[in-house]
Amino acid sequence: MAHSEAFQKQRRRILLAGVAAGGLGIAGWLKPEADHSGHSGYFQNLNVALKDAEIGTPVMVIDRQRLDHNIQVLKRRIGSEFGYRIVVKSLPSLPLLQQVMAATGSRKLMLFHQPFLTQVAHAIPDADILFGKPMPVAAAARFYRDHTAGPRGFRPEHQLQWLIDSEPRLAGYEQLAEQRQQPMRVNLEIDIGLHRGGFSDFETLGRALRYIERSSWLTFSGFMGYEAHLMKAPGPASWLRDRAMARYQQYVTAAEQTLGRSLAGLTLNTGGSTTYQLYQGMGTRIPANELSAGSGLVMPTDFDLRTLADHQPAAFIATPVLKLLDQTRIPGAPGLGQLQALWNPNHARTAFIYGGHWQARPVSPPGLTGNAIYGPSSNQAMLNLARKVPLSAGDRVFLRPTQSESVFLQFGDLAVFDATLGQITERWPVLHEG
Ligand SMILES: Cc1ncc(COP(=O)(O)O)c(C=O)c1O
Repeated sequence: MAHSEAFQKQRRRILLAGVAAGGLGIAGWLKPEADHSGHSGYFQNLNVALKDAEIGTPVMVIDRQRLDHNIQVLKRRIGSEFGYRIVVKSLPSLPLLQQVMAATGSRKLMLFHQPFLTQVAHAIPDADILFGKPMPVAAAARFYRDHTAGPRGFRPEHQLQWLIDSEPRLAGYEQLAEQRQQPMRVNLEIDIGLHRGGFSDFETLGRALRYIERSSWLTFSGFMGYEAHLMKAPGPASWLRDRAMARYQQYVTAAEQTLGRSLAGLTLNTGGSTTYQLYQGMGTRIPANELSAGSGLVMPTDFDLRTLADHQPAAFIATPVLKLLDQTRIPGAPGLGQLQALWNPNHARTAFIYGGHWQARPVSPPGLTGNAIYGPSSNQAMLNLARKVPLSAGDRVFLRPTQSESVFLQFGDLAVFDATLGQITERWPVLHEG
């Protein structure tokens, strides 16, 4: 009996030692390594270009060659099968839009914000604009109050499609159109699986179409069916795509039956950066005749997906290091910073940067990392780095925005970097919020 108890104890000890050793092994395997490599040649050149341009504040940099590369990829992939509509919220700068319009030959824009509409209609009077979300009637009314078209100015009755998602909104627009004696084109939002609102049954859709037909002020201009769920919902993207397009086709067929005419020639919009490549070679097999994309041209980190693998990151936040400290110290917890660095040597030193707390991820120097315990700051954020990383106060660190749409608006004019010349060649103002 005593003999077997001793044996059991010994077995337990061996087992525990095994678990501990295994744990240490796994911990050793998980433990981050110090990255001392410092800025690559690309970021060193960008750092110098920003110094030469005397930009001493946080700035959003657009890499001109990479932007061009992304435009060429998009053009090649869309080919002549579809129209291309530029998503303005994701590229919110007039010179940036003009650049993309010139390079793609597209005048089609998708907007999501009334103050942007007012600016774009003024600056790009030949734009063809479709709204990507339904605007409150008050916002539409505000646009008409502000908009004055010269002889060759933007003509909303021909060049603008408001997006309508419901019967009450349709009635609201009809009332506004009548009040202002202003003809309006309306595009109907359809739900093809994203479940973000819009028309989702044929009966309501039929009623809305008949309402538009009876109206003296409204014209039906097409459908907008967005399908960002293809890359997010469970299931193969190609299967989800086929289901979404089959549903799109049903709305088109139902509308053609209601109206007694073909929808060919109307705006039948779908797609976004994450999905546009899924339609390559499908031009004649799907009802949509145009694809939207914006973010994929600048590639914030949320767009690092297999469907955009041939696009390149083209937007970076650059911000000066204000203070470089040899340690990481957490207030009220002496030694905690060192403990963090013991586990992850990329916490050994601290850079306090100009600004921070953006929707962004540090990218250069590699190993640069936030400190969750110290917490974020929009004024002077703490970033940590390994001991031997070559970096000085006054140098810049670089982050990639996770999205472009609101982050681009936080830095003033975009700084356009020509990597071949190694220079900041232009500053592009961003759209203002109104
Ligand atoms: C209606 C609609 N179309 C297209 C897009 C795609 O924009 P992006 O290409 O910038 O992802 C969006 C993004 O929110 C959208 O809401």
